[in-house]
Amino acid sequence: MDGKWNPGLPRAPGDQVPQVARPDVQRHAWPQHWINRHVALSSSAIVHKPLGLLAELTHRCPLGCPYCSNPLALDARADELDTATWVRVFGEAAGLGVLQVHLSGGEPGARRDLVDITAGAHAAGLYTNLITSAVGITSKTLGALAEAGLDHVQISIQDSDALSADHIAGYDGAFARKRALAAEDLALALGASRVEIAHVQYYGWALKNRAALMPSREQVERATAAVEELRARHHGRIVIDAVVPDYYARYPKPCVGGWGRRSLNVTPAGKVLPCHAAESITGLEFWNVREHTLADIWANSPAFNAFRGSAWMKQPCASCPRRELDFGGCRCQAFALTGDATATDPVCHLAPDHARVAELAAVRSDAPYVYRRM
Ligand code: SF4
Ligand code: FES
Repeated sequence: MDGKWNPGLPRAPGDQVPQVARPDVQRHAWPQHWINRHVALSSSAIVHKPLGLLAELTHRCPLGCPYCSNPLALDARADELDTATWVRVFGEAAGLGVLQVHLSGGEPGARRDLVDITAGAHAAGLYTNLITSAVGITSKTLGALAEAGLDHVQISIQDSDALSADHIAGYDGAFARKRALAAEDLALALGASRVEIAHVQYYGWALKNRAALMPSREQVERATAAVEELRARHHGRIVIDAVVPDYYARYPKPCVGGWGRRSLNVTPAGKVLPCHAAESITGLEFWNVREHTLADIWANSPAFNAFRGSAWMKQPCASCPRRELDFGGCRCQAFALTGDATATDPVCHLAPDHARVAELAAVRSDAPYVYRRM
């Protein structure tokens, strides 16, 4: 499982809020800062209010996952934002309309101030989700986090088989530690309500291991059938999300729910990105929370405005009826595979470069993983 939050699947209660603001109706249903508004700048570029904030508290991590989607150049510990700055950012995020904060990394448990950070997010009125490898979070810390207002815990598990899970994570004993924390977490939460089965997405470090991680079409079909069977078996008791490897898809995913439309990421050093891999696109200018408010960055920073709306699109996206559904796919994938961030995501069967995806999916190997080490 890829432990990253997948913002391509909007899940916040605000997703049900109509896109045209109806404050007279909604004020009774949601807290004031949950009322999701947008501002129309032109017919092609609408600035929505974001729903989710991915707070990458640190890039430090005890695991060495070969599929890590964090950037190749990681932020150093000395450059990480301090507690007070994170708390300010959470307040600004809530003011902007954000509902959920995903406390992630690296391994967020590497931050000694994780409890204070969580308390700050909770005090800002955000729904708090901790995304953790569970290595480095003790039961005592988990209790303190629950006291601080932590709402949800998401534990990444690399395989259901312990040996294989440890092999993928590059850390002996990782699986046992995840099981131990999961048992305690479940006891606290009185049962998990959602499971996400996520295939690797090929960005950042994962590109180095693409051939070793790439499944065959038959494997993908088997996995998809297994997920459907599990959904039917556990219907009504547990929600199962599935993120499929899009190299075998017919259409691309609506990555991050549309660029600069639903979510934002803050890196450990304070840069604000439209998606976690945005730094892989060369030439974009990112602003930092040390110099700008989150509202200013969301509305005015060059990176967020680069691919808003549809004016930037080329054919076939520019005239495609799906352009407001999938937003032309993933900008980072388009750039990684074509060198042009305005190109149609090549996983789309209508893309001029689509044949390249099939060529890459056919390259599979049993080569050892290239682990990520800090
Ligand atoms: Fe989506 Fe563009 Fe493909 Fe149409 S052509 S389905 S908008 S990626
Ligand atoms: Fe899809 Fe960046 S990862 S737009």
